[in-house]
Amino acid sequence: MSLALNTKHLSSFIKEEEYKAIYPQVEAAHKTLEAKNGPGSDFLGWMYLPRDYDKEEFARIKAAAAKIREDSDVLVVAGIGGSYLGARAVIEAVKGMYHNELDNGLKIYFCGNSISPTYLNDIIALCKGKRFSINVISKSGTTTETSLAFRVLRKLLEDEMGVEEANKRIYATTDRAKGTLKQLADAQGWPTFVVPDDVGGRYSVLSAVGLLPIAAAGISIDEVMQGAADAMERFSVLSPDNDAYKYAAIRNILYRKGKSIEILECYEPNFTLMNEWYKQLFGESEGKDNKGLFPASCIFSTDLHSMGQFIQEGARTMFETIVDVRKPAQDLFIEKLEGNFDGLNFLADQNMSVVNRKAMEGTILAHTDGGVPEVVIEVDDLSAYNVGYLIYFFWRACACSGYLLSVNPFNQPGVESYKKNMFALLGKPGYENLTAELEAKLK
Ligand code: PA5
Repeated sequence: MSLALNTKHLSSFIKEEEYKAIYPQVEAAHKTLEAKNGPGSDFLGWMYLPRDYDKEEFARIKAAAAKIREDSDVLVVAGIGGSYLGARAVIEAVKGMYHNELDNGLKIYFCGNSISPTYLNDIIALCKGKRFSINVISKSGTTTETSLAFRVLRKLLEDEMGVEEANKRIYATTDRAKGTLKQLADAQGWPTFVVPDDVGGRYSVLSAVGLLPIAAAGISIDEVMQGAADAMERFSVLSPDNDAYKYAAIRNILYRKGKSIEILECYEPNFTLMNEWYKQLFGESEGKDNKGLFPASCIFSTDLHSMGQFIQEGARTMFETIVDVRKPAQDLFIEKLEGNFDGLNFLADQNMSVVNRKAMEGTILAHTDGGVPEVVIEVDDLSAYNVGYLIYFFWRACACSGYLLSVNPFNQPGVESYKKNMFALLGKPGYENLTAELEAKLK
């Protein structure tokens, strides 16, 4: 089994009766999901996507990725939120944070995920003079951050390679039929890929949104999909032993006891972007109607030297979910040094992963003693297969958890508020009335 939920450290926080008490609600959430009759049921395309994905498009994604790897030194991916995080998370989890520096092949950079001119200038500098391609990703086709970065990079590509060649190097992932980006892509003849109508941004990594950049990175998307498909088979079944549902139940039991912050943690820095992906998935899904667990994240042992104090002794409002990667991608044997000048020979004659594991075990025990519930998700490794597996596990858990919380886990109405204000302050036509009101507030 490539993933297991370990609840042994929860025994002093959750009693067996509590699992039993919440189970009928889990059952109801499962039935609602499968019957597709709950809030947000228009966005359940992810549920069987690992089985029902568009095979013809999948082949086109592989062909496009092969072409990009062949004719480009750099692929710039422009996208934000669900149109960004999943791809980068999978690439870094599987290939490592320094894949661009360590690989001889294609470099992959992400932009359109902020409005920082400094960041975009750095991306421009990384592309200038190189053979580059662009994958612009936006379901709506109108997201400001993405559109602005794409406008700048497209101009650079046209200036450097000419319009005709540029048009062969722009790949648009967007709505099947509508939106500014789709119209532009059709007019220019760019290859296009589809964000399915019934798949929301944070559930889109296993559509073309994530699969094209992931395949371009040289990762087997067959393996990613196989992992997700196997997880789908396992976690789509109603049972008290369904770990995805059990995890959703644990989150809600703890939330109802005042543990309103979940910190997702991993002892592998390559998991950093997976943490970010998880934060979007759960944050956008659950944070509404004045409810929700606040999803936070740490990389340990790094953050034990910053957040460790708070977790050990601060306000008792959180629980921790540790993604325990049983086998790191690489190990390092610690040799014994003659003279033991640094006093570290007690660590020698073993692999560094053993030291990392002892740090994890010691921390779990210390935090449990400090009154912090500890949930452990054990995963064999961060292979493409297991990352796909983990993604589906979190999807199922999140959907169930949202229904346990009685929210619509598939919308994100709150995301619009900042956009409205930003457009008004920037003088976008149609927002005139709001402009004066906001400017008065800022005075
Ligand atoms: O989950 C979501 O829906 C959001 O995070 C979107 O993915 C994000 O806002 C990007 O939207 P779009 O793909 O329309 O550019």
